[in-house]
Amino acid sequence: MNKTIVITGGAGFIGSHVIRRFVKNYPDYQIINLDSLTYAGNLNNIEDVSKSSNYKFVKGDITDRDFIFRFIADTQPDGVIHLAAESHVDRSIRNPVAFLTTNILGTVHLMDALREIWKEPTDKRFYHISTDEVYGSLGKEGYFTESTAYDPKSPYSASKASSDHFVRSYFNTFGLPIVISNCSNNYGPNQFPEKLIPLMINNIRHNKPLPVYGKGENIRDWLYVEDHASAIDLIFHKGKTGETYNIGGENEWKNIDLVNFLCQLMDKKLGRNSGDSEKLITYVTDRAGHDLRYAIEAEKLRDELGWRPSLQFEEGLEKTVDWYLSNDDWLEAVTSGDYQNYYQEYYK
Ligand code: NAD
Ligand code: TYD
Repeated sequence: MNKTIVITGGAGFIGSHVIRRFVKNYPDYQIINLDSLTYAGNLNNIEDVSKSSNYKFVKGDITDRDFIFRFIADTQPDGVIHLAAESHVDRSIRNPVAFLTTNILGTVHLMDALREIWKEPTDKRFYHISTDEVYGSLGKEGYFTESTAYDPKSPYSASKASSDHFVRSYFNTFGLPIVISNCSNNYGPNQFPEKLIPLMINNIRHNKPLPVYGKGENIRDWLYVEDHASAIDLIFHKGKTGETYNIGGENEWKNIDLVNFLCQLMDKKLGRNSGDSEKLITYVTDRAGHDLRYAIEAEKLRDELGWRPSLQFEEGLEKTVDWYLSNDDWLEAVTSGDYQNYYQEYYK
C-alpha cells in the first residue's frame, strides 16, 4: 500500500480521533497531520500517537496559498482528508470573515494544489468533511437526506455549504476525485469547551451557571466522535467518487433534556445530591438565527456501506463525562488564558 495521506485539522476535536484511528489501523500509510494550531488545535489531543513512525505533524495554514502549493508538491499525497475549519456557530456570528477565509478559500487552495499534482487521479481521493447544518433547519417533522436542498442559516453553515459546492464543482469541472460527508453534531473526548456538551460538563464541575439558549427546545442529533471517525474511515476507503454521504446518530435530543440528563449524571459522578446541578441551569438570550432542529437520515451510508453507530448515547455520554473528569490538566490548559476572555465576551 504505502500511501501518503494528509489529514488537515488533525489537532482538533474530530481530526485527532481520525488521526489516531488511521495511525493505528493503517501502519502502511504515512499519515501527515497538517494543522495551523488555532485556539481549537491542541497537539496534546494526539500525544499518544505522536511518536509513531508512520505519523508526522506539519504546522501550516490552509489559507496560505503559496505554502499549500509547496506543501502539496513536497508531500505528493495519495489522499487528503480535509477537516481543518473554523467550526463554532457562535464565533461565526461574531467573525464571519474568518469562516469565509478558512472554510472556503482554504478548501479551494488545497484543491487547486492537488490539481497541480494529480494529473491522472484514478486512485486518488480528496475527502471533504462537512456538516448537516448546510441543509438549514428542520421543523418538528422530517429528516435531512443527501438530496435535501442546501439552505444554510448561519455564517458557519454558509461557509461549509459554499465549500461543499466548490468541492462538487471541482469534481464536475476538473475531474478532481472527491467525496463528501455531512455529519450531525459530534460529542466525546477532546472537544473544545465552547460547544454545548463540554461547556456544560466544565460549568457543572465548577458550579457555574449553565447557559441554555432560548427555551432549550432546539433539537440536535448527537453522534459519538469515534463513530464519526469509523464512518470517515469507511467512506474514505469504500465511498464512491463524486458522492455525498450523510452521517447521523439517529439520536435526537432537545437541548434542555440533554442538559438535565448531564446534570443527573454529573451529580452521581461528583457525589452531589440529586438535583444539585440542575439548579445551575440559566436560560439566556437565544442565539441569533438559531436553527430549531437537525436530524439526519443515514440510510445511504447504512445500506451501501454497512455503517452503523456503535454506542448508545447514554453510554457515550458517560464515557465522555469520565474522560473530562479524569483529564483535568487538559481542561485546565484549554480553559485558561484566552478562553476566559472568550467566555466573558460571549456569555456576559
Ligand atoms: P475543531 O474546531 O475542533 O478543529 C478544527 C481544527 O482545524 C483545529 O485543529 C484547528 O487548529 C485547525 N484549523 C483551523 N483553521 C486552520 C487553518 N487555517 N489551517 C490549518 N488548520 C486549521 O473542529 P471539529 O469539531 O473537530 O470539526 C472538524 C471538521 O468537521 C470541520 O470541518 C467541521 O465543519 C466538521 N464537522 C464538525 C462537527 C462537530 O459536531 N464538531 C459535525 C460535523 C462536521
Ligand atoms: P453547539 O454545540 O454550539 O453546536 P451547533 O450550534 O453546531 O449545533 O450547540 C448545540 C446546541 O446547544 C445548539 O442548539 C445551541 C445550544 N447551546 C446552548 O444552549 N448553550 C450554549 O452555551 C451552547 C454553546 C450551545
